[in-house]
Amino acid sequence: MTVHFIGAGPGAADLITLRGRDLIAACPVCLYAGSLVPQALLAHCPPGARIVNTASLSLDQIIDEIAAAHAAGQDVARLHSGDLSVWSAMGEQLRRLRALDIPYDVTPGVPAFAAAAAALDAELTLPGVAQSVVLTRTSGRASAMPDGETLAAFGATGATLAIHLSVHVLDRVKDELIPHYGADCPVAVVFRASWPDQRIIRATLGSLDPAIGKGERTALILVGQALDAKGFDESRLYAGDYDRRFRPVGTEPRFPE
Ligand SMILES: C[S@@+](CC[C@H](N)C(=O)[O-])C[C@H]1O[C@@H](n2cnc3c(N)ncnc32)[C@H](O)[C@@H]1O
Repeated sequence: MTVHFIGAGPGAADLITLRGRDLIAACPVCLYAGSLVPQALLAHCPPGARIVNTASLSLDQIIDEIAAAHAAGQDVARLHSGDLSVWSAMGEQLRRLRALDIPYDVTPGVPAFAAAAAALDAELTLPGVAQSVVLTRTSGRASAMPDGETLAAFGATGATLAIHLSVHVLDRVKDELIPHYGADCPVAVVFRASWPDQRIIRATLGSLDPAIGKGERTALILVGQALDAKGFDESRLYAGDYDRRFRPVGTEPRFPE
């Protein structure tokens, strides 16, 4: 028996890996975080599967469900939105499973920031403009930010920021970032990236209206010059005269065949 933690992707039902889909189809028990995981994915569950929305359960109750499946020798598909490496609450579940000696594995998923970038047709790491992406959030009721992990501290680097769980505090985001990026820095807010009702708002930090964040909370805020850069450098990797292992150039290539 194994608990398969599966990244369910950002929303579109076909943005799940083949491995994730096949594991769902093979498990007689499916636990899914119903607030963001698309219901359409549940269609992959086998007939008669026990399907539980864990949105209203406590951690203890979720572990009870898993322990019952373990006692019955039934594999579990555990679905969380996006990828499991960020804000999935997987860490605390794995710690409990290790203590109970219940086997598990992890299948990655498409994270929301990648779906938002795709919706914008944006490369977030343009040569000479930004070479880092910071996945971050502001503090919320359930999770305080550790000391030092402030928007201002990340903003001081000039990296592209992908700010999660924060569309309701856009005024705070603007106040903290304008001193570092300037009021004319491009920003995009992508609501429900990849869902059928996806919505995109582009602005600058100065012109962004905080009122847009009053309703729908499932949104990613992307900030940085890479969102609207036009005069960026081309990557050396594909330059005609760039000698590299997979495309030797010149009479004395660095990596002879
Ligand atoms: C609890 S976190 C889950 C993140 C997820 N594990 C991931 O890999 O993206 C939820 C936050 O992610 C962002 N998010 C999740 N799905 C999204 C989507 N489809 N479009 C925009 N933002 C999304 C929002 O900021 C939302 O408040």
